[in-house]
Amino acid sequence: MKVASVILAAGKGTRMRSDLPKVLHKICGYPLIHYACEASRALGIQEQVVVVGHGSQQVQAYLGDQVLYALQEQQLGTAHAVLAAREMLAMDEGLILVTSGDMPLLTAQTLQELVSVQRTNSGPLTMLVVTADDPRGFGRVIRGSDAQVLAVVEEAQASPDQLKIRELNAGAYCFDAAWLWQTLENLPLSPKGEYYLTDTIAAAVEQGKPVAAVSVADELESMGINTRIHLAEAEAAMQQRILNQLMLAGVTIINPPSTYIEASVRIGQDTIIYPNTFLRGETQIGKNCEIGPNTIATDCKIGNQCKILAAVMEKAIVEDSVDMGPFVRLRKGAHLGEHVHMGNFGEVKDSYLGEGTKMGHFSYIGNATIGKNVNIGAGTITCNYDGQHKHATIIGDNVFIGSDTMLVAPLTIGKNASTGAGAVVTHDVREGEVVVGVPAKALRKKNIGE
Ligand code: UD1
Ligand code: CA
Repeated sequence: MKVASVILAAGKGTRMRSDLPKVLHKICGYPLIHYACEASRALGIQEQVVVVGHGSQQVQAYLGDQVLYALQEQQLGTAHAVLAAREMLAMDEGLILVTSGDMPLLTAQTLQELVSVQRTNSGPLTMLVVTADDPRGFGRVIRGSDAQVLAVVEEAQASPDQLKIRELNAGAYCFDAAWLWQTLENLPLSPKGEYYLTDTIAAAVEQGKPVAAVSVADELESMGINTRIHLAEAEAAMQQRILNQLMLAGVTIINPPSTYIEASVRIGQDTIIYPNTFLRGETQIGKNCEIGPNTIATDCKIGNQCKILAAVMEKAIVEDSVDMGPFVRLRKGAHLGEHVHMGNFGEVKDSYLGEGTKMGHFSYIGNATIGKNVNIGAGTITCNYDGQHKHATIIGDNVFIGSDTMLVAPLTIGKNASTGAGAVVTHDVREGEVVVGVPAKALRKKNIGE
């Protein structure tokens, strides 16, 4: 039987106090709506309709064409929102899974269970329930003497006795499509002036049809985000989930509470992550690395056997067996070849450092292409900017750059050349040449291979 998914995301999220639509607030690197879409997609559901309203353009701009959209112009309640998806789905039979865009912790496994239970249910719907000490404003699940679900009463309408009920409506459902469309059109208006999706439950019971309930295994899964306090709680819970997955896959995390790893990051086996490390975006790390303490990497590709201590790096590529830090900065376009060594206080931007090149102390390398086994002395600077344009520096294999050399670009230094300490190099240097002074002049020809 065909299953489609409707994800509700039209609400304003007033309590977030934000200009950003609620479902675009992020946890662990992705907006809330991403997790909701991923969970139902993981079941193999192709047809996903996201109901948008407040901030619809921003939500659509983020999700693009991976989902369908239904616009709910006025937010007249959750039942009204589901009905808005009807036309888009054009589905008269099959099952419809309804979830909210603000429930990022709900897993595909739980949704699968909802669908599986509904497949065997003779009644028109299966709902997700959670038993929790803190009711969080959720609707209360009312059961009859035979334990059958009778209704969901919203907190605002609940009697003092009903308020004490700790079995709550988690807000995810699997409906028989034909029954759903027919029922939604005939729901009463609630005292709050909204059409409540939860009133479908009483409607089924009135027709003598059974409502099935699936109890969520982990209370956290049912967490809906209404405030930034909830957002931080969900962030912590999702973070723990990500770290647990990594640890189970063979990554050592010395101190999980001080380690932040976004959901999109990939890390190889036997890599050790030291405290105060923040790995973000599309970062990938190979096997057997030691990362941190105190490292921030965003959108970086790091090979195997790398040691990276106290670095701040973004959009950089680091090949195998690189050893870096402390206090290294790699900016966009930095690319370190295998066995590169970078010591303290180095910055690299838009540059390639060839295999085995060493840059021990206090250097800035920008817009440069550097060969293999080059020694970049302490304090070396590529003067790559003339106030208007960036210029390139090209350095051949086995070059020795003396301490405190200023490399005034555009500049090419041939293989096996050397510069003296304090040289200001303004002209190209030939292969094997030794230049010294300010501005640098040739001293003698070095023996090739020296
Ligand atoms: C809803 C349930 C409540 C349940 C809780 C779980 C109803 C009436 N109540 O309450 O029983 O315990 O979820 O989290 O369904 N939305 C729209 N259009 C609307 C109204 C809402 O798209 O007109 C969307 C919201 O953006 C949100 C979701 O539907 O993603 C749920 O709406 P919300 O107002 O948060 O419902 P709750 O009060 O949390
Ligand atoms: Ca909610």
